Amino acid sequence: MTHGRPEGAAWAPLWERDDELAAASHALDDLRMDSTSAGRLLVFGGEAGTGKTALLAAVRGMAEGRATVWSARGGETVTSVPFNVVRQLLQPALVALTPEEIHEYLGDWYEIAGPALGVTEPGGRQVDPQAVCDGLVEAVTRLAHWKWPLVLIIDDAHWADQETLQWLAAFVRRLDELSVLVVVAHRTGGAEGDSARHLAAVDAAAHTLSILRPFGPDAVASLTRATLGEHADAPFCREIWAVTGGNPYETVELLAKVQDSELEPVESCADGLRALNRTPKGNGLVARLESLGPDAIRLAWAAAVLGTDISLDLAARLAGMSRDKAEDCVDRLRTARILLRDGEDLEFVQPKIASTIYRSISGATRTALHGRAASVVTLAGLGAAAASRHLLEVHPDDDPELVGQLRQAAAEHLAVGAPDAARRCLERALREPPLPEIHARVLYELGCATLLTSPATTIAHLREALSMHGLDQELRVDAVCRLSQAFVHNDQLEEGLRAIDEEAGRLGPGPTRLRLQAVRSMWEGIHAGEEDAPGRSRRLAALAGPLTGRDNSERALLILRAFDAMTRGESAEMVVELCDRALVNGRLAPGLGWTDTEWSFELRLMLGGCYAFADRIDRAESLFTEGVRAYESAGWSGGHLALSHAFLGYVHRRRGRLADAERSLREGLRLADRVGEGLPMHWEVASMLIDTLLARGHVEEAGAIADQYGFAPPSASTIYVPDAMSVRGRLLLALGRTDEGLSQLEATARALTARGQYNTVLAPWAYDLARALAHEDPERAAHLVSDARMQAERFGTDTAIGEALRCAAALETGPRAVALYRKAATYLESSPCAYEHAVARVEYGIAAESAVELERGLTLARECGADGLVDRALDHLAPARQ
Ligand SMILES: Nc1ncnc2c1ncn2[C@@H]1O[C@H](COP(=O)(O)OP(=O)(O)O)[C@@H](O)[C@H]1O
Ligand SMILES: [Mg+2]
Repeated sequence: MTHGRPEGAAWAPLWERDDELAAASHALDDLRMDSTSAGRLLVFGGEAGTGKTALLAAVRGMAEGRATVWSARGGETVTSVPFNVVRQLLQPALVALTPEEIHEYLGDWYEIAGPALGVTEPGGRQVDPQAVCDGLVEAVTRLAHWKWPLVLIIDDAHWADQETLQWLAAFVRRLDELSVLVVVAHRTGGAEGDSARHLAAVDAAAHTLSILRPFGPDAVASLTRATLGEHADAPFCREIWAVTGGNPYETVELLAKVQDSELEPVESCADGLRALNRTPKGNGLVARLESLGPDAIRLAWAAAVLGTDISLDLAARLAGMSRDKAEDCVDRLRTARILLRDGEDLEFVQPKIASTIYRSISGATRTALHGRAASVVTLAGLGAAAASRHLLEVHPDDDPELVGQLRQAAAEHLAVGAPDAARRCLERALREPPLPEIHARVLYELGCATLLTSPATTIAHLREALSMHGLDQELRVDAVCRLSQAFVHNDQLEEGLRAIDEEAGRLGPGPTRLRLQAVRSMWEGIHAGEEDAPGRSRRLAALAGPLTGRDNSERALLILRAFDAMTRGESAEMVVELCDRALVNGRLAPGLGWTDTEWSFELRLMLGGCYAFADRIDRAESLFTEGVRAYESAGWSGGHLALSHAFLGYVHRRRGRLADAERSLREGLRLADRVGEGLPMHWEVASMLIDTLLARGHVEEAGAIADQYGFAPPSASTIYVPDAMSVRGRLLLALGRTDEGLSQLEATARALTARGQYNTVLAPWAYDLARALAHEDPERAAHLVSDARMQAERFGTDTAIGEALRCAAALETGPRAVALYRKAATYLESSPCAYEHAVARVEYGIAAESAVELERGLTLARECGADGLVDRALDHLAPARQ
């Protein structure tokens, strides 16, 4: 059905398309040369009838036998069917492979891309459309490796469904790394909304983009003579061109009519051409159809209503006729150049014909046909989602069953990652309208469907749902949690908190209210400004302190409390104990896993961050390793994966595996760059990477990253791990921009103190400031260090205390310094932070003038990949070694 023209095996040579064919031919040669060379994208644009399909058929003919060719086309009446075109495109692969083989090829992507491709049943819940898109890109990439050399041809892309276009736009961006030839044709200006945006992205990625022009008079003359015979005279040919404007479709059609009418192709008959030409569009076509009799009309209508994937059998059933009669009608429709047939599959000769016939059906009949089509499609076992396109066309009529079918279809769309299609179904269900007792539920479902894509509409739907009766208590609370999330995403934190408070006010104490309180604390913890941070901490401590972690609301509160305590530098032992309480058998609880969406993703980062800074790096490492794996296998390649790579990298940094850390962090940044620009996550990851590069002694590279990402984080609400302002201060000092560095560190001191954040490992600004001030203001420096030392003792980890001692040592001289350095090195040796230990060891060696300690420090520095520290140790060893 999709393989070009089923009946058009023998294509007449194309006129005036030499450049396009040459481009295709070169691209094909390049493709076949080497399976590692870059892919190519050819795009052909143009108005209806300019020969896009004909050209694609020629490209297809050229490629067949030399490459694997898969093709598909969009359809005007099926733009609302999610993944329709990409499914068609991969059909040959999907039918050639057994389910086990598909599973093997797609590997980890099977679960995520399989449902969208219709090769596996979707799971029950809503899937992130971006993840599905990424999964499809990966799936097709793998199939392309398998089937190299592969040519993908997509016709009428302006009518492809939006989900396919999103995939296509993402896929063609990969062509630099993937040897596959993609050829796309679309009508210029034929798409709208998101589809137009995706299509513009496809155009922008094209290596060759050509707009097909109408024929000139010479080509029309040649075509005329080739069709009607050499005796067609020049004025007649010229008139053909004048009448059709050189549009290939109109030209071919007019010539066919001339043949049918037995008009002589000579000047004296040229006058009749205008009248003849008026017939192909609109009424002419309809008249032609009508002349074929009522059965043929019914079959053509049925085919037009089905739109795509038209099997003879479905069309016959929809037209309500026997198979024999349908076969007979198809024959007549073929003769009239309306339908094409390839075995069981039917297709309209031109999409324009399909639209004209579809529009010629009277409104009432069309609606009735769609209603019947929905049940024919459902009876054929194609599922509620497939039937939903037809249900959308049926007039609203208080039909509870229709509402049920549309809700079912919406659930199926959500489960394959097509929330937009789900939204259309639910909006239509609301117009039916639903029975009063389920109206609120439908609104709630609609709110859930739009949550990821449109916070503003989500807010409206959920508010309306909450204002009605019909949601039970659990669902109400769920709706409020989602409503607050939509508010937060819409930058309306205050409204979000208010919605939670209102609902919480109606509830007595108990797990349901606790859930609301947990969500509230989460939004506050992640997004609130600096206002009354200490008060918030106190309230959180009171709320979470007594909890045992028996459900996820409790666990969320425990994590929030632990993170708050960690940033404030409260006892690390308590922080770890709170975190442990939030786990189940040492692991994330069901529903709080990496890919669970009910609770904000940041909670897992907070949990891992707590462990990392409380010297339980082993726990942090296994958590983030699990996170990376979970996202990779679920196909979440956006911000989630970027941040979990980065946090894993930062765990390496804490352990002192600096080269590994740098690698993971750069990967994190690369992934973050794919998500967007200038997002908080860029600062977060850049901050980690800069900290790591400084530890390595690669100051210039650290500066380059800072420049590239405009690394000047605001002191506002977001908490970065490690504290980005401290990192920036240290960087500026390392770059020799002392004044800027000092003022950054002073600003950091003010901001963090106001918030009550005293963790000296997370935000070590005091040490950098003290060292920088040691000469000009020794008193202040000593003060800073003794304050920091107190905080470090309060937090109580070996790392915190060791680092405080090391800085104290730096402010001393003589035996006092040596003693402090020795103590610092001892603490840090028992900490899990190998880099900090290496620094202390080297500094101890320098202070004590001990070659043995220096050698130990040197070995440690080398193991860490701390190049700057290695040099420093060598500088001091050189005299000793001589
Ligand atoms: N370059 C060409 N040379 C000869 N005939 C052509 C050419 N391009 C198109 N045609 C004829 O015009 C008709 C319409 O072309 P088609 O490819 O269907 O247009 P589009 O896909 O742009 O709407 C086709 O049936 C084909 O026979
Ligand atoms: Mg076409």
